[in-house]
Amino acid sequence: MRHLISPLDLSVDELDNLLKLAADILADKEKYSHICDGKKLATLFYEPSTRTRLSFESAMLNLGGQVLGFSSADSSSAAKGESVADTIRIISGYADIAAIRHPKEGAPLVASLYSDIPVINAGDGGHNHPTQTLTDIFTIYNLKHRLDNMTIGFCGDLKFGRTVHSLINAMVRYPGVKFYLISPDELKIPDYLKEEVLDAGNIEYIETNSLEDAMPNLDILYMTRVQRERFFNEADYIRLKDSYILDLKKLETAKDDMLIMHPLPRVNEIAPEVDNDCRAVYFKQAHYGVYIRMALILRLLGLM
Ligand code: CP
Repeated sequence: MRHLISPLDLSVDELDNLLKLAADILADKEKYSHICDGKKLATLFYEPSTRTRLSFESAMLNLGGQVLGFSSADSSSAAKGESVADTIRIISGYADIAAIRHPKEGAPLVASLYSDIPVINAGDGGHNHPTQTLTDIFTIYNLKHRLDNMTIGFCGDLKFGRTVHSLINAMVRYPGVKFYLISPDELKIPDYLKEEVLDAGNIEYIETNSLEDAMPNLDILYMTRVQRERFFNEADYIRLKDSYILDLKKLETAKDDMLIMHPLPRVNEIAPEVDNDCRAVYFKQAHYGVYIRMALILRLLGLM
């Protein structure tokens, strides 16, 4: 039985095959509309979500399956003190596959150790968000038609932004990938990622506070929200929340074919005037999430 806990649980070849399957689903949705007839997906969300939970549910419904679950810890027996280990033991008797989002780093991994069904990490604290990474990579693959030789600028909250951590881990496996890490000093990427992933892999990267300096060099600009829910101190959040606001003026020096990505939700970091720029692909990116999650469900259930 396979789980997806970290973006590295899939080899480059497996990821390549998953992208091809997702592209085929996108091209011919009807062909896949009954493969999961009789199967159930449980969405166990201990933290708020719009895209991840609903795109998982949409993915399973598109495949002919059914969905059940909860959307907050308060509406589950976690509020009475039930552990993740006990919860997944119970859910293993109710569903065929589970997607779990939890504020504690490592909770989906713990669940996978006690589960009789495949477990998917749908985001754990500030740690990883592997299905967002699959969504991001599927977006790049579809729109750029390559994953190698890419200069990617990550901008905003690189300390708590789990989507950034997961995507860096996944993209360093492709040759010629280079990063601009654009953040305030307080929200720099964690040292362990620099030492264990970037430095250890001899990956080229530049840390900077300046979005303007990085802009002309980028093939992809990956904007992120400052993660209010991970701050200990509201005053720090208020001071840092508007560090970067992307607008059309700042895009004047960007390449014509640069992709502007964002895992969403956005708050202030991308001005609405950018939404109509042809380089803005963040809403398309969220829609691609359904197809890559359909492909993932099929693979983990061993149906394709
Ligand atoms: N990108 C993402 O994880 O969005 P949600 O928090 O709405 O699921």
